[in-house]
Order: sequence, then C-alpha cells, then structure tokens
Amino acid sequence: MDNDLLVEIKDLRLNFRTFDGISKVLNRVNLKIWRGDILGLVGETGCGKTMTALSIARLIPCPPGEIVGGEVFFEGEDVLRKTDEEMRLLRAQKLAMIFQDPTTSLNPVFTIGDQMIDIIGSRTDTSKASRLSMLGVLSNLVPAIRALRREARERALEMLERVGIGDASERIDDYPHQFSGGMRQRVLIATALSGTPSLLIADEPTTALDVSIQAQILRLIEELVEELNLSVLLITHNLGVVARTCQRVAVMYAGVVVESGSAIDVFKNPKHPYTVGLMRAIPTFDTKRGEIKGIPGSVPNLLNPPPGCRFHPRCEHAMPRCAEEPPPAPREIRPAHEVSCFLYS
Ligand SMILES: Nc1ncnc2c1ncn2[C@@H]1O[C@H](COP(=O)(O)OP(=O)(O)OP(=O)(O)O)[C@@H](O)[C@H]1O
Ligand code: SF4
Ligand SMILES: [Mg+2]
Repeated sequence: MDNDLLVEIKDLRLNFRTFDGISKVLNRVNLKIWRGDILGLVGETGCGKTMTALSIARLIPCPPGEIVGGEVFFEGEDVLRKTDEEMRLLRAQKLAMIFQDPTTSLNPVFTIGDQMIDIIGSRTDTSKASRLSMLGVLSNLVPAIRALRREARERALEMLERVGIGDASERIDDYPHQFSGGMRQRVLIATALSGTPSLLIADEPTTALDVSIQAQILRLIEELVEELNLSVLLITHNLGVVARTCQRVAVMYAGVVVESGSAIDVFKNPKHPYTVGLMRAIPTFDTKRGEIKGIPGSVPNLLNPPPGCRFHPRCEHAMPRCAEEPPPAPREIRPAHEVSCFLYS
C-alpha cells in the first residue's frame, strides 16, 4: 500500500436491521484519505457520511448495523480485523473526532478540566487511564497519581490556550454550561487534538454555530492541521466550506461515493450527473429569483433502493442499463479524479 495513503475504504457495504426490513445504508463505498489531505465529504442528508466516517473508527453500532462487505484500512491495516483493545488504542492515539453539537459531547456534571484530563489519560495504556479516572478519590493520597494528573492538566491548559480560550487557567475548572457554543467547540478541538492523532474526523463541526464563529473555527482547524501535520475528513452540507477549506472532495449519494477529486476539479468540472446537479443548485450573486434548479425527485428509501444505479430515477442521462446493473467501480477520468457512472465506463 502507498505510504502516503492514510485511510482506504474499499467496497464497504453496511446494512441496518430495522423493524421495517433491512436498510442498505452503504453500498460499495470507496474512499481514500492521503496524509496531509483535507478531504471534504458532502451529500444529501441520510446518504451515509457519518456512517462512512464512523467505519474508520469502527464505531458503527453493530447490531443493529452489520458490515456485509468491504475493507477499511488505516495506515495499511484493516481495522475490521483488529481486536477491541487494538481498536481502543487506535482511537485513543491516532484518531481525533469532533461532532456537530458541542453541547452533547460534553458531560454537564464534570468540569472541562476533569473531562480533558480523563481523555488525555486514556491516550496511554489502560492501567494509566484507569488510574487517572479515579479522579479525586486517590489522587490526594498517592503522589504518582497526583503527578499523572498534574501532567495531563498541564497538557489540557496548553491546548486550551492554543485554541484561544482566554484565562485558560481559570476557565479549566468551569462547567460546560459556562461556555458559549463556539467556546465549547474550541474545548472539544483542544481535547481531540491534545494527543498526537494522524486523522481528525470533523462531522459538521460548524453547523450549530453562527457564521462568524464558523469562520473562526474553520481557521483554527486549518492552523492546527498545518501545525500538527494532520489529515482531516471534514463532513459538511456546506459546499462553500468545502471550497474554502478542502483540497479534495468526495460526493456521496444514497450510500455510494459517486465522485471524488481535487476540490477545484470537482467544483469547476463536475462529471457525475448528481454532482452536476448539486453544483447547479448553488445560488450565486447573479442568480435571479426562481432560477435555482434543484435536482428533481427525492432521495431513495434505503429499505428498497432503486436497482442498478441508485441515482437513475433522478438522472437526466439515465440509460436502460442504469436501471439493470450497478455502475462500475470508480474510474479515474483525470489524475486523482474518479467517477462511478456508466457515462465514463
Ligand atoms: N441505528 C440506526 N438504525 C437504522 N438506520 C440507521 C441507524 N443509524 C443510521 N441509520 C441510517 O443510515 C443512513 C445513513 O446515516 P448517516 O447518519 O450516515 O447519514 P448522513 O449522511 O451523515 O446524514 P446527515 O447529513 O443528516 O448527518 C440513514 O438513512 C440513516 O437513517
Ligand atoms: S450510471 Fe446512469 S443513472 Fe447513474 S448517474 Fe450515470 S448515467 Fe445517470
Ligand atoms: Mg451525519
């Protein structure tokens, strides 16, 4: 495997068992994240962006989920074959994750400092983590534990200062409700990046924030990515965020990655009919009222997805074979620009 390839998802298929039947949520997902990449993952709600990201950390709830095919490589090793303890260490040491709503990612009954110290402790081995999580119970009695907690607290303070929390030495003992939404997201970024991760998974990190705070958080992520030499999987609905932040973009539709490539290529020269439709739907300053062209139809029900290409009922280029057989695996139509569609097979 190419050493510059950090993550490779190959033909991943995921089903969910529901009371109404089997929902075929991911259907041969293929995705590559290179070292140093900021890859934007876009697509309509429910198309499988979060499930794709969670598969890298093997955090898909199984059951009701079931991975029915494919492989997920992280640094060349298939995470689907690792033991639970190997996965715990991989998540703790190599992966950092931040989510849309910073409120629900923080426990309201513990101070920011205690939560950060616990997480920083868990990045080492299990025994050290459990010693750290005994919190105040033993820490006053055993000097070694006190020293471990002091070390973790210093790292937490350093990171809080780095992400722009003023008076960090006082704020570290505050509770989450004493922080604004933007500050909570900064705290989560500080926590996520307090180890030495190789990959940051940011699942709609700015959707819950107002536009000016959004811009600050994105700038902070960009700076940290550069400083810490990280790769990033940035999930968003906002194509403007992708254009501004990402070098590469992957477009998903109904559980399939239909197109991927450099953000400039895909934005300026989209090839898959779904991507073309997405781009057409972006309003510009010149767009007149009533002129925005959405994609006709609606996303399919994954309990009973259309046969063949899942986009065919909405595609203006659909041919008879599109309803009969799945489109070919992604094909490179220009260097590093891949499309999965019969038009390019
Ligand atoms: N526990 C579950 N049981 C059944 N179906 C699920 C479960 N979790 C997710 N799904 C389904 O998996 C599909 C993909 O979900 P996912 O959260 O990955 O979408 P998404 O692209 O991240 O959407 P959004 O943009 O709204 O966050 C959806 O159709 C969703 O309904
Ligand atoms: S495979 Fe066929 S239906 Fe699907 S996007 Fe391409 S042309 Fe349209
Ligand atoms: Mg999601």
